[in-house]
Amino acid sequence: MGHPGAAAADGAVERILAEVAERRGIDFRDYRADTLRNRLESRMRAAGCADLATYHARLIAEREEIDRLVESLVVPVTEFFRDGWVFRELADRVLPALPGSSGTLRAWVVGTATGEEAYTVAMLLAEAAARQRGRGFEVVASDLDRRSLEVARKGLYPESAVEAVPSDLRRRYLRPEGSRFRVVDSIRGRVHFAQHDLMGPRIAPEKAIVAAFDLVFCRNVLLYFEASLRVRAVQRLAAVIEPGGALVIGVTEALPRDSTEQFVAHPGVRPGAGIFRRASG
Ligand SMILES: C[S@@+](CC[C@H](N)C(=O)[O-])C[C@H]1O[C@@H](n2cnc3c(N)ncnc32)[C@H](O)[C@@H]1O
Repeated sequence: MGHPGAAAADGAVERILAEVAERRGIDFRDYRADTLRNRLESRMRAAGCADLATYHARLIAEREEIDRLVESLVVPVTEFFRDGWVFRELADRVLPALPGSSGTLRAWVVGTATGEEAYTVAMLLAEAAARQRGRGFEVVASDLDRRSLEVARKGLYPESAVEAVPSDLRRRYLRPEGSRFRVVDSIRGRVHFAQHDLMGPRIAPEKAIVAAFDLVFCRNVLLYFEASLRVRAVQRLAAVIEPGGALVIGVTEALPRDSTEQFVAHPGVRPGAGIFRRASG
């Protein structure tokens, strides 16, 4: 039998997450229990509450606290060219092989946070499109977190954030603005940010959903999900990727075992990059 205090705390976690689901429409209940517990307890301490039941009462009484809690649960941490070698593999081995049947390469970046990854992808697609004349590209980038999306839409970053952008791309796609750097309009105009929950009622942030994308990024999102939610998420992603298209997950993440019919390791790509090809059928 478990510790009675632990059972009470589990009940409080459930009630807090139900409160968040009801008031913010975001359901974290199938996210990893250990991570959730850590983050809830850290917010609880920061709010000066002695236990989770007291913290739940605080959440009901204080509107801003629910914003702070959601902020700590979504973990909007990202970078330009995060795990840079993955993007080299992508540019060298994946982009030239993508189907792009409409002539326009279409990418979806799930869990974009503050936008650095979506702009990284857009820069690489712009380079690929310039090489393959006549090709266009579009990037849809989505996240649960509205505040992160506000930052993303501005496309304005401190110098420390853009240091990882290779210098030739920095010259072409970033403009200094005071002490910061702005992503140029030709890239920003191709990246459409949308608030969207990967596990919500609509599979994708757009009307067209079946096989709509050549390339989907879902990096460092699945690692927050419990196994059953991960399975459902990957099934959703499989439905929107064109056969021959690619799925990119984080380097520390793995696809569920039962997705091997839908995704195979991408041919020619270094193992461990988290890049998979959507199998046909
Ligand atoms: C750690 S960040 C990863 C950012 C970026 N993909 C990267 O790898 O650098 C995780 C992001 O996933 C978002 N996220 C978590 N669950 C989500 C869901 N169900 N639907 C959409 N976005 C989600 C969070 O809000 C957060 O911004």
